[in-house]
Amino acid sequence: MSSSIPSQTETLAWQGDTEGHLVLIDQTKLPTELVTIDCQDLETVWEAIKMLRVRGAPAIGIAAAYGVVIGIRDAGNQREALIQKLNEVTDYLATSRPTAVNLFWALSRMKELAHGLGDESASAIRSRLLQEARAIHEEDRQMCHAIGRHGAALLDDKVSGVLTHCNAGGLATAEYGTALSVFFTAHDLGKQVHVYVDETRPLLQGARLTAWELMQRNIPATLICDSMAAQVMRENRVQAVVTGADRIAANGDAANKIGTYSLAILANYHQVPFYIAAPSSTFDLSISSGDEIPIEKRLSEEITEGFGKRTAPEGVDVYNPAFDVTPAKLITAIITERGVIDPISTQAVAEHLRD
Ligand code: MRU
Repeated sequence: MSSSIPSQTETLAWQGDTEGHLVLIDQTKLPTELVTIDCQDLETVWEAIKMLRVRGAPAIGIAAAYGVVIGIRDAGNQREALIQKLNEVTDYLATSRPTAVNLFWALSRMKELAHGLGDESASAIRSRLLQEARAIHEEDRQMCHAIGRHGAALLDDKVSGVLTHCNAGGLATAEYGTALSVFFTAHDLGKQVHVYVDETRPLLQGARLTAWELMQRNIPATLICDSMAAQVMRENRVQAVVTGADRIAANGDAANKIGTYSLAILANYHQVPFYIAAPSSTFDLSISSGDEIPIEKRLSEEITEGFGKRTAPEGVDVYNPAFDVTPAKLITAIITERGVIDPISTQAVAEHLRD
């Protein structure tokens, strides 16, 4: 792993051919340092996902797809050995984080492609897998822009204040984001959006990443602590809440960063529309409701001594779920690259995603 000032600020970039490597912005260093890491081996990709150097559901999926290309590099020229290695590599990458379904979606897509390639040579399979990882990357870019267009149309001209949680921006995707794409597009269309940014305890993705992205684009933004959202709504400062998602069940229940569920309840109480913006790769139609979404539990140190400063007594008992599930009935609409699901039901989700 090496670190340097990036020549470009793409969240993820692949450099070279099948022997190349993945370059990631190390998001744990933002906003004070904008540095990249070079992922030359599988363990570095796994560690980058686990430690949130690359994070956000779509970005995790893209990183994992490139991770497969890196992981099978030394498997030799026998097709069978390569496929065996591919299975091991995808199983290993799947252990990095449990909640964002985009990770498993991208790994399955890579695996299915390779398994379906009949008797092509090992080197042809490697090239096709790199092509597939690049396609996953490019498709995400396009999906994010489409989400922005559909979402911005929902914000009428009376909307001025919007609120978001965690980071569902360019840093969480190939480019442009999901929830933030809605604000970026609205801003580009000349709508007056002012974004209230939840800081997002405990890892502060809102404060460190979303505030940074909005400031980079000169979009008016105000940072608040998570616990201030109710007061901000009571003061009529926000007319819409938009967040991303890590996994959406067949009935529209949506997992996202811890704190999203309570925001949805607050929005409901204050009659503020609550939108989820996510690409179709974030849906998991194999589960009927959000009850089946695995919720990642992270280390207690993230709460007791986040960013190196102890803020709780030694030995205190801690519970640290990284995500929560917002029931579909609290979600006004789900915005995808295909359009808007409103009202949300199992049938509406299925129809929306039908090819
Ligand atoms: O733990 P993180 O930072 O990976 O959590 C990210 C989120 O919860 C995002 O809102 C979600 O992945 C959507 S990103 C477009």
